[in-house]
Amino acid sequence: MQDIIAPVQTAYVVGGLILILMIIVFVYFESKGFRVVRYTFINEKLKKSSYRFVMISDMHNCVHGHDNKEVLDAIDEVKPDAVFLAGDMITSSMEPKFEEDNVLKFLSAVSLKYPVYYGIGNHEEKLRRCPESFPGVYDHYCKELNKLGLRLLINEKVSIEDAGIDVYGLDLEHEYYRKLKTKWIPNDYLEKKLGKNDRNRVSILLAHNPEQFDKYALWKPDYVLSGHVHGGIVNIPPFGGVISPQLKLFPKYDAGLFYKDDSVMILSRGLGTHSIPVRVLNKAELIVVDIHKEVS
Ligand SMILES: [Fe+2]
Repeated sequence: MQDIIAPVQTAYVVGGLILILMIIVFVYFESKGFRVVRYTFINEKLKKSSYRFVMISDMHNCVHGHDNKEVLDAIDEVKPDAVFLAGDMITSSMEPKFEEDNVLKFLSAVSLKYPVYYGIGNHEEKLRRCPESFPGVYDHYCKELNKLGLRLLINEKVSIEDAGIDVYGLDLEHEYYRKLKTKWIPNDYLEKKLGKNDRNRVSILLAHNPEQFDKYALWKPDYVLSGHVHGGIVNIPPFGGVISPQLKLFPKYDAGLFYKDDSVMILSRGLGTHSIPVRVLNKAELIVVDIHKEVS
């Protein structure tokens, strides 16, 4: 009898090990690389016939190819009018030492070819808020960014005149990234921080935290560019992303397009990872957006 049981047990063990190995290989390849995701909108307020931009969020100092060659090639392939950054290009937590080199090298290469507009996320905000943990780093980082000639938008607006576009960068305080229980921004928060939104022009709001989208929509931006959630890390169709950085299970906003009144939020899965370097059915993404003045 024992002669029969032993081979059966061995078969279960070997089968189990093969299954675990297959899962590890699957998760490894799911967590590597990125895909290009494209969205198209019609907006009659646009002054040109069309405007194309690339959106990147949550790069977290990661690289795709040597010196991010794969990302640079993907941008060159679509020849955008501009590149918009929706925050967390760097990582400022859970790291023994702050590293910014990859992202500065990448941004240096991008800003040589394209106008770049940078709205900050909670990781850039943490560098500024915690100088004791990161002495001098925030100032150094901003100085390096300014040298590259890109536009860092900290509660600021910049106008792209030939296209009739206003780009706003929202600097959201730490308390509005609160874990578990959300603290909502006041209804007039955006107007106080950014001024009035000129509804005759196309408005693009770089706002890292998507959780506050219903509040952003009160200010009526045409497009909100967000990230932060990393697609919920693990995506279980049809339920979506599993967990947000605020530790909320199945967050309302995980990735894709979301509409509220006159606004659409373009929510990126991010281009990198941090702390938990894993993605499942939730590939990193670089987003390409085309706005056309009219239906062609
Ligand atoms: Fe974030």
